[in-house]
Amino acid sequence: MLCSYHLILVVRLFDIKFSIVTYYFYYIIFSGLDTYYSNMKVVTCIAPVNIAVIKYWGKRDEDLILPLNDSLSGTLSTEFMCAKTSILASPSLQENRFWLNGIEQSFNNRRLESCLKEVKRRANQALPHLNWNISICSKNNFPTAAGLASSAAGYACLVYALATLYEIQGDISGIARIGSGSACRSVYGGWVQWCKGTTSDGGDCIARQIAPASHWPEMRVLILVVNDARKKYSSTSGMRSSVETSQLLKYRASEIVPHRLSEITEAIKNKDFEKFAEITMKDSNQFHAVCLDTYPPCIYMNDVSHCIVDVIHAYNEYKTCNKVAYTFDAGPNACLYLLESEVEEVLSVINYVFSPPTANSEEYVKGLTVSIKTISQKYY
Ligand SMILES: *[C@@H]1O[C@H](CO)[C@@H](O)[C@H](O)[C@H]1NC(C)=O
Ligand SMILES: *[C@@H]1O[C@H](CO)[C@@H](O)[C@H](O)[C@H]1NC(C)=O
Repeated sequence: MLCSYHLILVVRLFDIKFSIVTYYFYYIIFSGLDTYYSNMKVVTCIAPVNIAVIKYWGKRDEDLILPLNDSLSGTLSTEFMCAKTSILASPSLQENRFWLNGIEQSFNNRRLESCLKEVKRRANQALPHLNWNISICSKNNFPTAAGLASSAAGYACLVYALATLYEIQGDISGIARIGSGSACRSVYGGWVQWCKGTTSDGGDCIARQIAPASHWPEMRVLILVVNDARKKYSSTSGMRSSVETSQLLKYRASEIVPHRLSEITEAIKNKDFEKFAEITMKDSNQFHAVCLDTYPPCIYMNDVSHCIVDVIHAYNEYKTCNKVAYTFDAGPNACLYLLESEVEEVLSVINYVFSPPTANSEEYVKGLTVSIKTISQKYY
């Protein structure tokens, strides 16, 4: 095997809605001839990553980010992967500024500005700090744009931090959606559905929890990171050209997604892993088929991704039922949904097929503690 995975993360699903790490006021007093007070307000929040099992692909409104259909995901624990955003508001800031992973970005970004505008619109207009400028500092602790939904966690976090800063109440998933469509699903924990809504202003295009993580506490996710390289095609432009050119996407939207969505919701409610896994794998495969049907095609999976698909099917066949489900987003990394009881064995199989990198192998598997046995049984 030429390629292998260089990092495997073992995580569970996540129930707590959000964590506010710190929330406090500073009052800095400058003394001197002109004594004055400068107040500032600082908010820091973290937000989780979500991994879709019914994929979102295709918008019916580009500006409002309204999807063609509903989608559904699991929200991952923030223990090992999360986005973190701090916002500082102060009357002494000369301008609005924004840093992403330590690099300053232009604030003149339509999605960022729309989120800020919408949060401020819903805020109490009497808040003294509503007109102060802000500095936003965002960080992800996972590979940005490697298909790990970094923008989803990032925008969910940004919007939650803004909503906390400006003290707004109620659902904020609709605002997160304006930043990055699937970000709306990272606003809730457990199993989350993004409802496409029916109104033209997107008012009812929000996310809702269909079941908490505690409903199926044995569920685990393995994230197999192929590489950190940025993906070749942005999902925004890929999605747009799929809507314009793919006949398969039309069929998927009208015939497949609605039925699949109710079936998988049923499977989750009944904790029917066999059914859940089948739908998850079929939906991932159809999403990538739509990408291939797009003209020109957008290819997100690579040889290692296809190899893991083969390995999982071989494993499930050996077990005579679906014990693991793979799903791939717009990138080559694999996300495997499985129950806790299977984690050890599946990791052993992956290690057998893709030999772990010899250097820093203790860094190879991160997250929840599992012991990996060397296997003698040949599965593949
Ligand atoms: C899915 O999308 C298609 C195309 O927009 C639409 O005709 C269909 O009604 C949608 N179904 C659901 C349940 O969202
Ligand atoms: C905020 O920044 C703008 C420049 O973007 C500046 O014109 C304005 O005076 C600043 N506001 C405050 C309260 O300092």
